[in-house]
Amino acid sequence: MSHETVRRGLLVAFEGIDGAGKTTQVARVAEALRTAGREVVVTHEPTDGPWGRRLRASASTGRLSPVEELEAFIADRQEHVETLLRPSVDAGRVVLVDRYYFSSMAYQGARGLDVDEIRRRNEAIAPRPDLLVILTLDPKDGVARVNHRGQSNLFEREEDLRRSAAIFAAITDPTPLRLDATQPREAITDAIVAALRDLGAL
Ligand code: TYD
Repeated sequence: MSHETVRRGLLVAFEGIDGAGKTTQVARVAEALRTAGREVVVTHEPTDGPWGRRLRASASTGRLSPVEELEAFIADRQEHVETLLRPSVDAGRVVLVDRYYFSSMAYQGARGLDVDEIRRRNEAIAPRPDLLVILTLDPKDGVARVNHRGQSNLFEREEDLRRSAAIFAAITDPTPLRLDATQPREAITDAIVAALRDLGAL
């Protein structure tokens, strides 16, 4: 008698300040999972939908107020959860999301909004990830790694990132897999794949 293996879907969030290498790791982990026979969905926030496009545009045309910005990220996320994240996890896929609501805590928190309140608002609309990966990097190195053409005040930028990094550093729930982003990329991927193996993902 043969039977198909029914595999549980999983949601994996990748977080960290700009320049930490999230996108590279998402691609590498996706490859490892696919090689192991898993169906993988790779996605990111802000999304490419209307709210995400508006948020990206605001980065060059003038940022929204902190409250408007938070509302836009939550609206973007709610649509993402409903149209892609939940249905994909329910279908047994492994969903890798490049930034999730911990970025709202870290970035909109850095703009002065209450971090616990940001978490509550998000957890009302977005499921907790099965695994939270946080890539850690000194903001100085983050600034150096990101291409900042046209950025007039790198010091201000570093100061913002420092506040965001401090918020990421304080997150304990869910217990993050915290990895030093300056390690060789292979070592980072191996550590994430090992954590996914422990969760039964491959
Ligand atoms: P990023 O992942 O850097 O996208 P891209 O590489 O396409 O520019 O995200 C853009 C910025 O959005 C980044 O600086 C962090 C910010 N952000 C928030 O402020 N709050 C959020 O909730 C999310 C998801 C991102």
